[in-house]
Amino acid sequence: MTQVTQITCFGADSLLGVARENLLFSWLLASERRNVVQRQYRLQLALDTAFDELQFDSGWVLSDQSVNVPLSAFIPLSRTRYYFRVRVIDDAQQESAWSPAGWFETALQHAHEWKADWITPDRDDEPAESVYLLRRLFTAGKKVASARLYSSALGVYRLYLNGSPVGDDLFSPGWTSYDDHIQFQSADVTSLLVPGDNALGAMLGEGWFKGELTWLKKRELYGRRKALLAQLHLLFEDGEECLIVTDGEWRCCNGPILDSGFYAGETYDARREDPCWCSAHSAAEWQPVTVMGKQRYRLVPQISEPVRVTQTLTPVAFIRTDDGVIVDMGQNMVGRIRLRAELEEGQTITLRHAEVLDTSGKLYTDNLRNARQTVTYTARGGSAEYAPYFSFQGFRYVEITGLSHLNDESLSGAICGEVLHTDMMRTGEFSCSNPAINRLFDNIVWGQRGNFVDVPTDCPQRDERLGWTGDAQIFIRTAAYNYDVRRFFRKWLLSVAADQKPNGSVPVVVPNVLLDYISKIWGDETYTSSGWGDAAVICPWTVYQFYGDRQLLAEQYSSMKAWVNYIHSRGDDPWLWNTDFQFGDWLALDAEPDSYFGATPVYLVATAFYALSTRIVRDAAAALNLRSDERKYRLWHENIVAAFRRTFMREGEMIADTQTAHILPLAFGLLEGADRVNVAARLNQLVVEQDYHLTTGFLGTPWLCVALSENGYHDTAVKLACQESYPSWLFSVSQGATTVWEHWDGIKPDGSFWSENMNSFNHYAYGAIGEWFYRFVAGIDFAPDSVACGDIIFRPDLSGGSFTSAAASYRSVRGIIAIRWERHEEHARLWLTVPANARAVLRLADAQWSVLVDESDRKIRSLEDVGGAPGIALGSGEYHFSLGRQKGITVE
Ligand code: BGC
Repeated sequence: MTQVTQITCFGADSLLGVARENLLFSWLLASERRNVVQRQYRLQLALDTAFDELQFDSGWVLSDQSVNVPLSAFIPLSRTRYYFRVRVIDDAQQESAWSPAGWFETALQHAHEWKADWITPDRDDEPAESVYLLRRLFTAGKKVASARLYSSALGVYRLYLNGSPVGDDLFSPGWTSYDDHIQFQSADVTSLLVPGDNALGAMLGEGWFKGELTWLKKRELYGRRKALLAQLHLLFEDGEECLIVTDGEWRCCNGPILDSGFYAGETYDARREDPCWCSAHSAAEWQPVTVMGKQRYRLVPQISEPVRVTQTLTPVAFIRTDDGVIVDMGQNMVGRIRLRAELEEGQTITLRHAEVLDTSGKLYTDNLRNARQTVTYTARGGSAEYAPYFSFQGFRYVEITGLSHLNDESLSGAICGEVLHTDMMRTGEFSCSNPAINRLFDNIVWGQRGNFVDVPTDCPQRDERLGWTGDAQIFIRTAAYNYDVRRFFRKWLLSVAADQKPNGSVPVVVPNVLLDYISKIWGDETYTSSGWGDAAVICPWTVYQFYGDRQLLAEQYSSMKAWVNYIHSRGDDPWLWNTDFQFGDWLALDAEPDSYFGATPVYLVATAFYALSTRIVRDAAAALNLRSDERKYRLWHENIVAAFRRTFMREGEMIADTQTAHILPLAFGLLEGADRVNVAARLNQLVVEQDYHLTTGFLGTPWLCVALSENGYHDTAVKLACQESYPSWLFSVSQGATTVWEHWDGIKPDGSFWSENMNSFNHYAYGAIGEWFYRFVAGIDFAPDSVACGDIIFRPDLSGGSFTSAAASYRSVRGIIAIRWERHEEHARLWLTVPANARAVLRLADAQWSVLVDESDRKIRSLEDVGGAPGIALGSGEYHFSLGRQKGITVE
């Protein structure tokens, strides 16, 4: 019997504060039967859990859609909780029971519903503190039935009600292109209210809005004054409602945080703590705030999951030095140290954070450039507990001064590392028979965690931590396997579109805090580069492919199109991008000495990406039923491909003999027939000539193994991936890396470092090989036109290369997709899971495995022609196959 095991709205089964356009419902089906397909669904919305007060009933809808079903005709009320449920009829005409109910609650939906004013503690006539406390006292005279708090800030903030923190989100309201929109947060604070006197408090810091950003040390990029906006709705049991809002009644004062910045760290003096600050008993000197009024900011309900602490690490070693003690967390992590200790009054503890130690065992901080990453805590005496409020660091090692008197055991109890990042759901797991590859895979996941801190950043430690668009598009496919990044990218892409220039150019960082820096330094009028601006096209399309979010595609479509139109307007031939500054294959090893620019001609790279983005816009137009656009971009794509071949090939060979020049046309489908075969053969040769080493940079690397595996050179891809000597992915692993490095030789074989001006040890870009592990080693891949993971391709690597077993699972929007295989001399075993309402094809690259037995009925299955290639078509269900090499040999 088919059942609906879960229903979610915008990826969550309970969601407080959702925007109307994100009311998209998805559900998971489960059945003991194989080949289950949904034929009809019925979706309901009600005001109560019993579904008596029905608000919406779709009736039976003939449709197999189980992912992102919109409620087109339904207009929800503001600040209202709705319960939702669904039931389905499957292909056997069986009707399921109702799913368990989920709920969502709308937030304020219209500007006029905001009664609160923005208030600021910053004054024009005196320098502002970097963090203030703000507070409002109020009386709840009657019993409160429910209370909701809607709030935001120009800066970063934390709210407290009667001294208790409201929620566990960090760095709210998050980083968006503030001039276009700012997120607000919604919280259910009913349980924090007390009868009688109450106090609503806030800590307000500078954050991205006002604090220091970029290596150019820019401050106040979005405005001069930090500000708070809060609106508390109290609903009393007698039905009366009352509002507490930010207004002239609020008071502010300095708190214990003397200074706080993302790069700098935090300085905290506990002697300035007032434990009663968020109550009526506070002894602090409270000052009036300035009311700034309604302001022009466009407020949108929180889109992505918030940043939270997701894991706690304990130190693995202590290294005693003359300056104190260096604590080794065992993992290059992003977050903060929490300190818990008995301290004397006035005792100061300093924590300096770094990713690596130098050859003499000292903290290496040169690569942090201007980021101090230093936290200073002064105690008030007695039990102390502290972790920075508005700062995070990228580190594995922490040098602590002031605690050297503690022995290792006491230190271990006093220090823990709190890992923080956008709290996305983990969706992908991978492991294989090669332990070094497993460590690399873990490093890739850690790189994602450390750099998905509200926006996709290049690195989390130095004075950068910016939303580099190139890095995001390079990594997004791996990211989408590892974690559910749908909401994370939906949020960021709104800023991408907002920061796009009127001519369609997409800045190299979003939110664009470099403004026109790129134009000035490279002396042209563009703000962009190919491979970076293409994020505006590649990212929404990838989100659509993984999650089937058509809404997002529709919303980003004009930005996607504008980017391709922009490129079209740049070249002196409309089908080439052969002008303007280009990063090209950034940091490739075939660069001239001391250059960051790889040897692959930058206009070859630019035109290849032009073709890729145009093809995606064509496909997006088709998905959105925009027929004339589809025709237009089809034609454009054909012209670009022809111009690419004409310009960058001679007699069937690429004009540039670099690995990347061969990778991109193969990976982007720019070649056909003999050309494809020749170029693939040459790519293989180029890798073999380097004794199975890569020479690629940012743009070639992500596609290198994919291009080889897809074109008959999978063995070479495997040798490259398993290569341990420099340069290779595993070189950093052999050097003890726990995250992916920015440079193949961030630490050189002799222990010295790459130049300090750009040497991050936590850069996810080269971690883009993660996608290849899922697709071509364990073997969870998708058909090129698959939407929402509906068309799975299993391609286990049973070829006899270095892997003898592998496993991967992916929690798709349709349910779990899983594969596990083990290869022995004469037989192999394979386990597969296909979720309901999806279909799969099993492809076996190695023709030797000609006998396949389905262990459920011991019947032999043979490879058939599926879509023009040998394979086995599978519907949903669990499968266990035994494989033998040739007929006549018994498979166990
Ligand atoms: C960043 C990169 C980025 C690059 C652009 C660097 O400083 O860390 O990851 O994409 O600049 O060239």
